[in-house]
Amino acid sequence: MPACNICGDRGIYISAGAAHTCRCVQELALGNRLNAAQLTQSLRRQTFDRFGLHYYSSEQADGGRTYRETAQIALRAARAFVEKAKAGPAADGLLFAGRVGTGKTFLACCIANALLDAHVQVLFLVVPDYLDRIRSTYDLERPGYTELELTEAAKRVPVLVLDDLGAHHYTEWGRQKLYSLVNHRLNHQLPVVVTTNVSLEDLEEYLGERTTSRLFQLCRPYRLLTDIDIRISRRLNPEEAAVRQNRPKKPPESTP
Ligand SMILES: Nc1ncnc2c1ncn2[C@@H]1O[C@H](COP(=O)(O)OP(=O)(O)OP(=O)(O)O)[C@@H](O)[C@H]1O
Ligand SMILES: [Mg+2]
Ligand SMILES: [Zn+2]
Repeated sequence: MPACNICGDRGIYISAGAAHTCRCVQELALGNRLNAAQLTQSLRRQTFDRFGLHYYSSEQADGGRTYRETAQIALRAARAFVEKAKAGPAADGLLFAGRVGTGKTFLACCIANALLDAHVQVLFLVVPDYLDRIRSTYDLERPGYTELELTEAAKRVPVLVLDDLGAHHYTEWGRQKLYSLVNHRLNHQLPVVVTTNVSLEDLEEYLGERTTSRLFQLCRPYRLLTDIDIRISRRLNPEEAAVRQNRPKKPPESTP
């Protein structure tokens, strides 16, 4: 099925006897530009094969499952989501919740990178940056796109990642922008992958009832649990982190 129902992915459509460039062409260009700005080189390297399960304790448990099992379930759901999205429009999105440094963004990047590599259109937006970008379209020094172009790109892209829909004190304006985005995606059954460091119970306090309710309709929730912030454990034990990532600590003794 084509991603664009206006032009059938041809990029142009005929109306009143004349050929027009479809808006999906501009949206794709804007999407590429935003992805390039947000999915930095280091985030582009966060792929499924590098996702380490050893950070999640196989002893500590919560709700009858070990942290490792909980992470495995989230990982499996992420992989399954990618396979579905590659095959056609994916219905159920995913929401990864957990404290700071538990691998939520890593997992969302695994999804975005796998889809990009499979040429499935995906837009990776860090929520506070997205709101800043909208705001910057009001400035005199405009960023080269309009608010409408930006918000439409986010509303219509086949797969949207909203990273860090977190514990920010959104203004009423920010909440409204997020509501409008989430509501559109729900009405058009377009999937969203969300990461948040707010517990599922507290989301409503930050986003409001209407957006939270819609998010739960759009996304299946998963949790990531660790005993320690993975950023800290990697800093405390960088060698182990390197080995686990299959990166040689030293270059091989002799290279031909
Ligand atoms: N499963 C994992 N395997 C390997 N590295 C990981 C894993 N999870 C996280 N990391 C590394 O730990 C760091 C923090 O991970 P990440 O950015 O995904 O955290 P987060 O849960 O999104 O935190 P925050 O709530 O602060 O946004 C990153 O440098 C990431 O590369
Ligand atoms: Mg994050
Ligand atoms: Zn089109």
